[in-house]
Amino acid sequence: MRVLTGIQPSGDLHIGNYFGSIKQMVDAQNKSDTFAFIANYHAMSSGNGGAALAELTMQTATDFLSLGIDPEKSTFWVQSDVKEVLELYWILSAFTPMGLLERAHSYKDKVAKGISANHSLFSYPVLMAADILLYSPDIIPVGKDQIQHVEIARDIAIKFNNEYGDVLKIPEFKIEENVATVPGTDGQKMSKSYKNTVNIFGEEKKQLKTIKKIVTENVAVEEPKEFEGCNVYNMAKLFLNEDECKELQNRYKRGGEGHGHFKLYLHDIIWEYFKPYREKRQYYLSHQDEVREILNQGATKARSIAEPMMENIRTLTGIKY
Ligand code: ADP
Ligand code: TRP
Repeated sequence: MRVLTGIQPSGDLHIGNYFGSIKQMVDAQNKSDTFAFIANYHAMSSGNGGAALAELTMQTATDFLSLGIDPEKSTFWVQSDVKEVLELYWILSAFTPMGLLERAHSYKDKVAKGISANHSLFSYPVLMAADILLYSPDIIPVGKDQIQHVEIARDIAIKFNNEYGDVLKIPEFKIEENVATVPGTDGQKMSKSYKNTVNIFGEEKKQLKTIKKIVTENVAVEEPKEFEGCNVYNMAKLFLNEDECKELQNRYKRGGEGHGHFKLYLHDIIWEYFKPYREKRQYYLSHQDEVREILNQGATKARSIAEPMMENIRTLTGIKY
Protein backbone atom coordinates (compact mmCIF):
# COMPACT_ATOMS: atom_id res chain seq x y z
CA MET A 1 0.00 0.00 0.00
CA ARG A 2 1.42 3.36 -0.98
CA VAL A 3 1.12 6.25 1.47
CA LEU A 4 2.03 9.75 0.32
CA THR A 5 2.62 12.90 2.29
CA GLY A 6 3.85 16.42 1.58
CA ILE A 7 5.84 18.36 4.15
CA GLN A 8 5.77 22.14 4.24
CA PRO A 9 9.27 23.49 4.87
CA SER A 10 8.30 25.83 7.63
CA GLY A 11 11.25 26.20 9.99
CA ASP A 12 12.06 24.95 13.46
CA LEU A 13 10.18 21.79 14.35
CA HIS A 14 8.45 21.43 17.70
CA ILE A 15 7.27 18.48 19.75
CA GLY A 16 3.69 19.00 18.46
CA ASN A 17 4.98 18.39 14.93
CA TYR A 18 6.90 15.37 16.19
CA PHE A 19 4.06 13.52 17.95
CA GLY A 20 1.34 14.84 15.63
CA SER A 21 3.03 13.98 12.39
CA ILE A 22 6.73 13.05 12.12
CA LYS A 23 6.60 10.05 14.44
CA GLN A 24 3.54 8.68 12.61
CA MET A 25 5.43 9.00 9.36
CA VAL A 26 8.51 7.26 10.73
CA ASP A 27 6.39 4.42 12.17
CA ALA A 28 4.50 4.08 8.87
CA GLN A 29 7.73 3.41 6.96
CA ASN A 30 7.85 -0.10 8.36
CA LYS A 31 4.32 -0.93 7.30
CA SER A 32 3.80 0.72 3.93
CA ASP A 33 5.46 2.05 0.82
CA THR A 34 6.01 5.60 2.08
CA PHE A 35 6.41 8.56 -0.26
CA ALA A 36 7.32 11.84 1.44
CA PHE A 37 8.41 15.05 -0.22
CA ILE A 38 9.27 18.57 0.84
CA ALA A 39 6.65 20.85 -0.68
CA ASN A 40 8.92 23.74 -1.64
CA TYR A 41 6.71 24.99 -4.49
CA HIS A 42 3.81 25.12 -2.05
CA ALA A 43 5.89 27.15 0.40
CA MET A 44 6.04 29.94 -2.17
CA SER A 45 2.32 30.54 -1.89
CA SER A 46 2.76 31.61 1.73
CA GLY A 47 5.40 34.14 0.80
CA ASN A 48 8.60 32.11 1.21
CA GLY A 49 11.29 32.59 -1.38
CA GLY A 50 14.86 33.47 -2.14
CA ALA A 51 17.86 32.14 -0.23
CA ALA A 52 15.65 31.63 2.83
CA LEU A 53 13.52 29.08 0.98
CA ALA A 54 16.57 27.16 -0.22
CA GLU A 55 17.87 27.10 3.34
CA LEU A 56 14.52 26.03 4.79
CA THR A 57 14.34 23.18 2.31
CA MET A 58 17.74 21.85 3.36
CA GLN A 59 16.93 22.40 7.05
CA THR A 60 13.68 20.46 6.72
CA ALA A 61 15.38 17.61 4.85
CA THR A 62 18.14 17.48 7.48
CA ASP A 63 15.66 17.50 10.37
CA PHE A 64 13.39 14.81 8.91
CA LEU A 65 16.32 12.51 8.16
CA SER A 66 17.65 13.11 11.66
CA LEU A 67 14.27 12.24 13.17
CA GLY A 68 14.08 8.91 11.44
CA ILE A 69 12.95 9.20 7.83
CA ASP A 70 14.93 6.32 6.39
CA PRO A 71 15.80 6.69 2.70
CA GLU A 72 16.14 2.91 2.44
CA LYS A 73 12.52 2.48 3.45
CA SER A 74 10.91 5.67 2.17
CA THR A 75 11.07 7.61 -1.05
CA PHE A 76 12.08 11.05 0.20
CA TRP A 77 12.62 13.96 -2.18
CA VAL A 78 12.09 17.65 -2.84
CA GLN A 79 8.94 18.45 -4.84
CA SER A 80 10.71 20.71 -7.36
CA ASP A 81 13.16 17.96 -8.33
CA VAL A 82 10.40 16.21 -10.24
CA LYS A 83 9.28 18.78 -12.81
CA GLU A 84 6.51 16.54 -14.11
CA VAL A 85 4.45 17.75 -11.17
CA LEU A 86 4.18 21.22 -12.74
CA GLU A 87 3.21 19.78 -16.08
CA LEU A 88 0.46 17.72 -14.50
CA TYR A 89 -0.62 20.75 -12.47
CA TRP A 90 -1.33 22.63 -15.71
CA ILE A 91 -3.14 19.75 -17.34
CA LEU A 92 -5.28 19.23 -14.23
CA SER A 93 -6.13 22.93 -14.19
CA ALA A 94 -8.19 22.29 -17.28
CA PHE A 95 -10.26 19.82 -15.22
CA THR A 96 -10.73 22.12 -12.23
CA PRO A 97 -13.90 24.21 -12.09
CA MET A 98 -13.33 27.66 -10.57
CA GLY A 99 -16.10 26.99 -8.05
CA LEU A 100 -14.14 24.06 -6.58
CA LEU A 101 -11.24 26.36 -5.73
CA GLU A 102 -13.44 29.24 -4.63
CA ARG A 103 -14.90 26.93 -1.98
CA ALA A 104 -11.49 25.86 -0.59
CA HIS A 105 -11.30 26.69 3.14
CA SER A 106 -7.58 27.38 3.18
CA TYR A 107 -8.01 30.04 0.51
CA LYS A 108 -11.21 31.48 2.01
CA ASP A 109 -9.66 31.62 5.51
CA LYS A 110 -6.56 33.43 4.35
CA VAL A 111 -8.57 35.94 2.37
CA ALA A 112 -10.83 36.44 5.40
CA LYS A 113 -7.73 37.20 7.49
CA GLY A 114 -6.87 39.95 5.04
CA ILE A 115 -3.96 38.12 3.41
CA SER A 116 -4.08 39.36 -0.16
CA ALA A 117 -4.46 36.38 -2.42
CA ASN A 118 -2.29 35.66 -5.41
CA HIS A 119 -2.83 32.94 -7.97
CA SER A 120 -0.52 30.42 -6.25
CA LEU A 121 -2.60 30.60 -3.09
CA PHE A 122 -5.78 30.15 -5.12
CA SER A 123 -4.49 27.27 -7.24
CA TYR A 124 -2.63 25.55 -4.36
CA PRO A 125 -5.14 22.63 -4.30
CA VAL A 126 -4.49 21.90 -7.99
CA LEU A 127 -0.76 21.59 -7.34
CA MET A 128 -1.54 19.39 -4.37
CA ALA A 129 -3.76 17.24 -6.61
CA ALA A 130 -0.84 16.89 -9.04
CA ASP A 131 1.48 15.94 -6.14
CA ILE A 132 -0.87 13.16 -5.24
CA LEU A 133 -2.16 11.89 -8.58
CA LEU A 134 1.28 11.72 -10.20
CA TYR A 135 2.31 8.89 -7.87
CA SER A 136 -0.94 6.85 -7.59
CA PRO A 137 -0.92 6.53 -3.80
CA ASP A 138 -3.66 4.66 -1.94
CA ILE A 139 -3.69 6.77 1.20
CA ILE A 140 -2.96 10.36 2.16
CA PRO A 141 -2.64 10.79 5.95
CA VAL A 142 -3.98 14.22 6.83
CA GLY A 143 -4.84 16.60 9.61
CA LYS A 144 -8.41 17.94 9.50
CA ASP A 145 -7.32 21.09 7.64
CA GLN A 146 -6.14 19.06 4.64
CA ILE A 147 -9.20 16.82 4.10
CA GLN A 148 -10.81 19.21 1.67
CA HIS A 149 -7.65 19.34 -0.42
CA VAL A 150 -7.68 15.57 -0.85
CA GLU A 151 -11.38 15.75 -1.75
CA ILE A 152 -10.54 18.32 -4.41
CA ALA A 153 -7.83 15.99 -5.75
CA ARG A 154 -10.43 13.21 -5.95
CA ASP A 155 -12.91 15.46 -7.79
CA ILE A 156 -10.27 16.51 -10.29
CA ALA A 157 -9.15 12.91 -10.84
CA ILE A 158 -12.72 11.77 -11.46
CA LYS A 159 -13.25 14.53 -14.04
CA PHE A 160 -10.02 13.61 -15.80
CA ASN A 161 -10.86 9.91 -15.79
CA ASN A 162 -14.33 10.63 -17.19
CA GLU A 163 -12.62 12.06 -20.24
CA TYR A 164 -9.65 9.73 -20.62
CA GLY A 165 -10.43 6.45 -18.84
CA ASP A 166 -9.14 4.88 -15.70
CA VAL A 167 -5.80 6.69 -15.59
CA LEU A 168 -5.58 8.43 -12.23
CA LYS A 169 -5.94 6.47 -9.02
CA ILE A 170 -8.59 8.00 -6.77
CA PRO A 171 -6.85 8.62 -3.42
CA GLU A 172 -8.35 8.14 0.03
CA PHE A 173 -7.48 10.32 2.99
CA LYS A 174 -6.86 8.96 6.46
CA ILE A 175 -7.22 11.04 9.59
CA GLU A 176 -4.92 10.04 12.39
CA GLU A 177 -7.65 9.61 15.02
CA ASN A 178 -5.44 8.62 17.94
CA VAL A 179 -3.10 11.53 17.65
CA ALA A 180 -3.57 13.80 20.60
CA THR A 181 -3.17 17.52 20.23
CA VAL A 182 0.08 18.41 21.95
CA PRO A 183 -0.37 21.36 24.29
CA GLY A 184 1.98 24.33 24.17
CA THR A 185 3.60 26.17 27.07
CA ASP A 186 0.35 28.12 27.62
CA GLY A 187 -1.92 25.08 27.40
CA GLN A 188 -3.34 25.99 23.97
CA LYS A 189 -2.49 23.77 20.98
CA MET A 190 1.26 23.96 20.43
CA SER A 191 1.84 25.98 17.27
CA LYS A 192 4.46 28.27 15.80
CA SER A 193 1.79 30.88 15.26
CA TYR A 194 0.95 30.95 19.00
CA LYS A 195 4.63 31.24 20.01
CA ASN A 196 4.14 28.52 22.61
CA THR A 197 6.38 25.82 21.21
CA VAL A 198 9.01 23.59 22.73
CA ASN A 199 11.37 23.02 19.84
CA ILE A 200 13.06 19.72 19.12
CA PHE A 201 16.45 21.04 18.16
CA GLY A 202 17.10 24.11 20.31
CA GLU A 203 20.02 24.93 22.55
CA GLU A 204 19.73 23.34 25.96
CA LYS A 205 19.68 26.61 27.91
CA LYS A 206 16.98 27.99 25.66
CA GLN A 207 14.89 24.86 26.02
CA LEU A 208 15.12 25.01 29.80
CA LYS A 209 14.08 28.65 29.73
CA THR A 210 11.05 27.79 27.58
CA ILE A 211 10.05 24.93 29.85
CA LYS A 212 10.31 27.13 32.92
CA LYS A 213 7.72 29.40 31.29
CA ILE A 214 5.09 26.65 31.09
CA VAL A 215 1.98 27.89 32.82
CA THR A 216 1.16 25.90 35.98
CA GLU A 217 -1.13 26.26 39.00
CA ASN A 218 0.13 28.15 41.97
CA VAL A 219 0.31 25.56 44.76
CA ALA A 220 2.72 25.50 47.73
CA VAL A 221 5.61 23.03 47.43
CA GLU A 222 4.50 20.77 50.26
CA GLU A 223 0.87 20.50 48.98
CA PRO A 224 -0.31 17.59 46.77
CA LYS A 225 -0.88 18.64 43.17
CA GLU A 226 -3.26 17.81 40.35
CA PHE A 227 -1.55 16.08 37.45
CA GLU A 228 -4.66 16.01 35.32
CA GLY A 229 -4.87 19.21 33.34
CA CYS A 230 -1.31 20.17 34.29
CA ASN A 231 0.55 21.40 31.21
CA VAL A 232 3.85 19.98 32.45
CA TYR A 233 2.35 16.54 33.08
CA ASN A 234 0.50 16.55 29.74
CA MET A 235 3.73 17.22 27.91
CA ALA A 236 5.77 14.77 29.98
CA LYS A 237 3.38 11.85 29.42
CA LEU A 238 4.15 11.89 25.69
CA PHE A 239 7.64 10.73 26.54
CA LEU A 240 6.84 8.24 29.32
CA ASN A 241 5.71 4.64 29.45
CA GLU A 242 2.86 3.53 31.70
CA ASP A 243 4.99 2.86 34.78
CA GLU A 244 6.87 6.12 34.44
CA CYS A 245 3.54 7.96 34.11
CA LYS A 246 2.26 6.33 37.32
CA GLU A 247 5.46 7.27 39.11
CA LEU A 248 5.13 10.89 38.03
CA GLN A 249 1.45 10.92 39.07
CA ASN A 250 2.53 9.70 42.51
CA ARG A 251 5.06 12.49 42.80
CA TYR A 252 2.26 14.99 42.07
CA LYS A 253 -0.09 13.37 44.61
CA ARG A 254 2.55 13.03 47.31
CA GLY A 255 3.34 16.72 47.61
CA GLY A 256 6.75 17.94 48.71
CA GLU A 257 7.84 18.89 45.19
CA GLY A 258 6.95 22.08 43.35
CA HIS A 259 6.13 22.54 39.67
CA GLY A 260 9.72 23.76 39.31
CA HIS A 261 10.92 20.21 40.04
CA PHE A 262 8.53 18.72 37.51
CA LYS A 263 9.70 21.24 34.93
CA LEU A 264 13.33 20.23 35.46
CA TYR A 265 12.28 16.61 35.12
CA LEU A 266 10.37 17.43 31.90
CA HIS A 267 13.39 19.19 30.50
CA ASP A 268 15.58 16.17 31.29
CA ILE A 269 13.30 13.63 29.65
CA ILE A 270 12.84 15.72 26.51
CA TRP A 271 16.56 16.38 26.29
CA GLU A 272 17.33 12.68 26.75
CA TYR A 273 14.64 11.53 24.28
CA PHE A 274 16.00 13.61 21.42
CA LYS A 275 19.68 12.95 22.19
CA PRO A 276 20.24 10.33 19.47
CA TYR A 277 18.37 12.52 16.97
CA ARG A 278 20.54 15.52 17.90
CA GLU A 279 23.63 13.44 17.30
CA LYS A 280 22.36 12.29 13.94
CA ARG A 281 21.54 15.89 13.09
CA GLN A 282 25.04 17.03 13.98
CA TYR A 283 26.30 14.40 11.58
CA TYR A 284 24.01 15.49 8.75
CA LEU A 285 24.74 19.16 9.37
CA SER A 286 28.39 18.52 8.76
CA HIS A 287 27.60 16.22 5.81
CA GLN A 288 25.10 18.29 3.83
CA ASP A 289 26.38 16.70 0.60
CA GLU A 290 25.10 13.40 1.90
CA VAL A 291 21.67 14.96 2.49
CA ARG A 292 21.69 16.27 -1.09
CA GLU A 293 22.67 12.84 -2.35
CA ILE A 294 19.80 11.20 -0.45
CA LEU A 295 17.37 13.75 -1.92
CA ASN A 296 18.75 13.13 -5.42
CA GLN A 297 18.28 9.42 -5.07
CA GLY A 298 14.76 9.98 -3.75
CA ALA A 299 13.96 12.21 -6.73
CA THR A 300 15.29 9.55 -9.10
CA LYS A 301 12.97 6.98 -7.52
CA ALA A 302 10.02 9.39 -7.62
CA ARG A 303 10.76 10.26 -11.25
CA SER A 304 10.75 6.59 -12.23
CA ILE A 305 7.04 6.62 -11.36
CA ALA A 306 6.23 10.15 -12.50
CA GLU A 307 7.79 9.87 -15.96
CA PRO A 308 5.79 6.92 -17.35
CA MET A 309 2.63 8.36 -15.80
CA MET A 310 3.21 11.72 -17.51
CA GLU A 311 4.17 10.06 -20.78
CA ASN A 312 0.82 8.29 -20.82
CA ILE A 313 -1.04 11.49 -19.91
CA ARG A 314 0.77 13.46 -22.64
CA THR A 315 -0.29 10.90 -25.20
CA LEU A 316 -3.89 10.75 -24.01
CA THR A 317 -4.31 14.51 -23.84
CA GLY A 318 -2.67 15.11 -27.21
CA ILE A 319 0.19 17.12 -25.76
CA LYS A 320 2.46 14.58 -27.38
CA TYR A 321 2.06 15.01 -31.12
P1 ADP B 1 2.34 24.91 13.27
O1 ADP B 1 0.94 24.93 13.85
O2 ADP B 1 3.37 25.03 14.33
O3 ADP B 1 2.52 25.90 12.13
P2 ADP B 1 2.15 22.98 11.17
O4 ADP B 1 0.79 23.49 10.81
O5 ADP B 1 3.30 23.30 10.26
O6 ADP B 1 2.51 23.47 12.66
O7 ADP B 1 2.03 21.42 11.38
C1 ADP B 1 2.78 20.44 10.73
C2 ADP B 1 2.27 19.08 11.17
O8 ADP B 1 2.39 18.90 12.59
C3 ADP B 1 0.80 18.85 10.86
O9 ADP B 1 0.65 17.51 10.41
C4 ADP B 1 0.08 19.06 12.16
O10 ADP B 1 -1.09 18.29 12.24
C5 ADP B 1 1.12 18.61 13.19
N1 ADP B 1 0.98 19.40 14.42
C6 ADP B 1 1.33 20.71 14.58
N2 ADP B 1 1.08 21.13 15.85
C7 ADP B 1 0.57 20.06 16.52
C8 ADP B 1 0.11 19.86 17.87
N3 ADP B 1 0.16 20.82 18.78
N4 ADP B 1 -0.35 18.63 18.20
C9 ADP B 1 -0.38 17.63 17.28
N5 ADP B 1 0.03 17.76 16.01
C10 ADP B 1 0.50 18.95 15.60
N1 TRP C 1 -0.80 21.12 1.87
C1 TRP C 1 -0.05 20.27 2.77
C2 TRP C 1 0.15 21.02 4.14
O1 TRP C 1 0.03 22.21 4.18
C3 TRP C 1 1.29 19.92 2.22
C4 TRP C 1 1.16 19.15 0.95
C5 TRP C 1 1.48 19.57 -0.30
C6 TRP C 1 0.66 17.81 0.82
N2 TRP C 1 1.21 18.60 -1.21
C7 TRP C 1 0.71 17.51 -0.57
C8 TRP C 1 0.17 16.88 1.74
C9 TRP C 1 0.29 16.27 -1.04
C10 TRP C 1 -0.25 15.63 1.25
C11 TRP C 1 -0.20 15.35 -0.13
O2 TRP C 1 0.45 20.38 5.13
